[in-house]
Amino acid sequence: MIVFITGGSSGIGRRLVLHYLARGCSVAAVARREANLADLYQSLASDRGLLRTYCADITDKQIIAQTIAKVEQELGAIDLAIINAGVTYQQLEPNLDLECFNEVMLTNAIGSTYTLVPIVETMLKRGRGQIVGISSLAAIGSIPRMSTYCASKAALNYQLEGFYWTLKPHGISVTTICPGFIETEMTVKHQIPRHWCMTLDRAIPQIVKAIEQKQRLYCFPFWQYQFVRLLGIMPDRIKEHIFNHAIEKWFPRPPLSLRSDRA
Ligand SMILES: NC(=O)c1ccc[n+]([C@@H]2O[C@H](COP(=O)([O-])OP(=O)(O)OC[C@H]3O[C@@H](n4cnc5c(N)ncnc54)[C@H](OP(=O)(O)O)[C@@H]3O)[C@@H](O)[C@H]2O)c1
Repeated sequence: MIVFITGGSSGIGRRLVLHYLARGCSVAAVARREANLADLYQSLASDRGLLRTYCADITDKQIIAQTIAKVEQELGAIDLAIINAGVTYQQLEPNLDLECFNEVMLTNAIGSTYTLVPIVETMLKRGRGQIVGISSLAAIGSIPRMSTYCASKAALNYQLEGFYWTLKPHGISVTTICPGFIETEMTVKHQIPRHWCMTLDRAIPQIVKAIEQKQRLYCFPFWQYQFVRLLGIMPDRIKEHIFNHAIEKWFPRPPLSLRSDRA
């Protein structure tokens, strides 16, 4: 099986790369940080022959399309494409930082779609394939400090849902995965308290199971999913209390004004 994964240089993506290599799949790992990709390659003992790394930025429409074409040329037809690359931005000031807004939207919503389109094109030609988008529980409802990230992931969810319905009759399945907090570079950088985060060891088997079952939408962990759903139907009075008091207490503001992931 040929597996294509964006954001393979760290966190969830890197662990998914290792999982599929261990299963004997040929894996194409895409990311911008060449050193991290080289480190991933070096860390392998016996599976090196199955891994190909590609240094590419998903926000460059041409580059990502060329990378996908190269993967197909070098490894063969992509059976499973995991659209995982993403960035976040914590809005600590009352107003938005437009540079961060642009980066998050360009990566999570637009870059993911730049990746999806050439993959859908090749899968349509063959009449088979599976696409997985790593979105977020942030897509379910907007929360203060994270509204840009929420908007970008909501856009990705809608895009993936559209593809689910339109591609199903063509033999292509689409799975949207919405995780809550998982301990990775992303949550460490944004100082999300560890007790809110699931470990990668617990999260990866759940993601893999949802992929194997070809679920349309998989949201986890259960209690974080129920909490965001509850927020959606809560009266504004209670919501206001949670947003103004509880969230500030549960997620203390980082001391430095953190910009986006890459700032
Ligand atoms: N951790 C969580 O709590 C959590 C919760 C819900 C959803 N998610 C989602 O899970 C996905 C993976 O995040 P993570 O937690 O594993 O964080 P991470 O360790 O920061 O990984 C993000 C990955 O995305 C890649 N990436 C970012 N921008 C890119 C670009 N323009 N082009 C190519 N690759 C790019 C990064 O690689 P380079 O920097 O090397 O390019 C990195 O490999 C993201 O979409 C995130 O939104 C995470």
